[in-house]
Amino acid sequence: MTAVAQVTVPGDKSLSHRALMFAALGSGVSVLRGVLPSADVRSTAVVLRALGVDLPVQWAQTDELRIIGMGRRGLRQPVVDLDCGNSGTTTRLVAGVVAGHHMRGTFVGDASLSRRPMRRIARPLTQMGAAFSFAADDGLPMTVQGGELRDIAWVSPTASAQVKSAILLAALVAGVSARVQEPTRSRDHTERMLAALGAPITVTDDAVLLDPVGQLAPLMFEVPGDPSSALFLIASAVLRGQPIEVRNVGVNDTRSGALAVLMRMGVALTLVNARDVGGEPVADIHVAPCAGLRGVTIGGDEIPALIDEIPMLACLAACAVGETRITDAAELRVKESDRITAVVSNLRAIGAVADELPDGLVIDGRESTLKGSVLTHADHRIAMAFGVLGAMRGNEVTLDDPQCVDVSFPGFWQALTELEQAR
Ligand code: S3P
Repeated sequence: MTAVAQVTVPGDKSLSHRALMFAALGSGVSVLRGVLPSADVRSTAVVLRALGVDLPVQWAQTDELRIIGMGRRGLRQPVVDLDCGNSGTTTRLVAGVVAGHHMRGTFVGDASLSRRPMRRIARPLTQMGAAFSFAADDGLPMTVQGGELRDIAWVSPTASAQVKSAILLAALVAGVSARVQEPTRSRDHTERMLAALGAPITVTDDAVLLDPVGQLAPLMFEVPGDPSSALFLIASAVLRGQPIEVRNVGVNDTRSGALAVLMRMGVALTLVNARDVGGEPVADIHVAPCAGLRGVTIGGDEIPALIDEIPMLACLAACAVGETRITDAAELRVKESDRITAVVSNLRAIGAVADELPDGLVIDGRESTLKGSVLTHADHRIAMAFGVLGAMRGNEVTLDDPQCVDVSFPGFWQALTELEQAR
């Protein structure tokens, strides 16, 4: 019998960004453990340092970070541009923070980030009273002039945790109230962290309401493993029929949609040791050896809870029996790359059968070996998804930029190799 591979994955990226931001805005010393030491989270640290927070720019996954909070509205006028690197979460959430302060900040980033839509946060934050200017039509460079803000009730046209969080952070800093309604609930880490800090936040079926906050308590938080990173290792084990246990992973249901899809595809998995860590559901994920995958349909309200996992699910679908159809996922076109085009063109480049839809993709699963060159477009999730296919016996996949995995999963290639060797 094959031995069960027992693995852990680095800290959750979304939670790590938020933990650093809330620690910066708290009154007192926050203590954080398990903060993801990846390029994206480092961008948040760089930007918060530019805003006056005493933070390390390098740390290890095992380090304890003690952060002296500057208070709810205590950040300082930056004297340099706020360089967000590749990180949309850094840009959009910190734009909310800057909007609530009496300060002006110019956000810049790499080529991929500079192309991503920022008007989606500029609209609500402008309605609150901040002023935005763009060097081009949209995207970066973007300058935010913050100040006194007004209460807001915002109906968001897209389910986006970054938009929701930008509004909540602006309201938190400025001491006003915010109500944000979404078509489908996006990841709710900001709401959970605010609630854990004692902030007056109410969550209803389709909206969140934050009342004016006085002071924010310091944050004591241990970041669990990232479920998005866990999926890559689970997928690799599934494709090789290997049983795997991923310990200490976030299983918040606004993030865990891919697990339900895996089960529909024929994977037997269970959550054990379910627990609450600082308001976030955490568990160990046990996955039984998989005999084969079948094609599925993925769409509708489940999309926000698995949006980052679609590249990997699509690559798994290429190895499944039957068709997989993914719809209602047009947001994929404005991620680190246009992930619909990137996944389809790369699947075709290695010999799989796939087609684009305006809001998704269709994959015709085949049991054949996959060989060819993949263009990552410097997108970490494209690199990891195709890297998993490349690790399957018989496949030969080369990537133009394997290093870009550092954005969310430093050590990914080693983790993948160790998993194969655990057999
Ligand atoms: C994130 C929200 C999602 C997700 C991104 C991280 C977050 O983006 O795709 O990787 O941490 O809030 P949107 O808010 O644009 O959906």
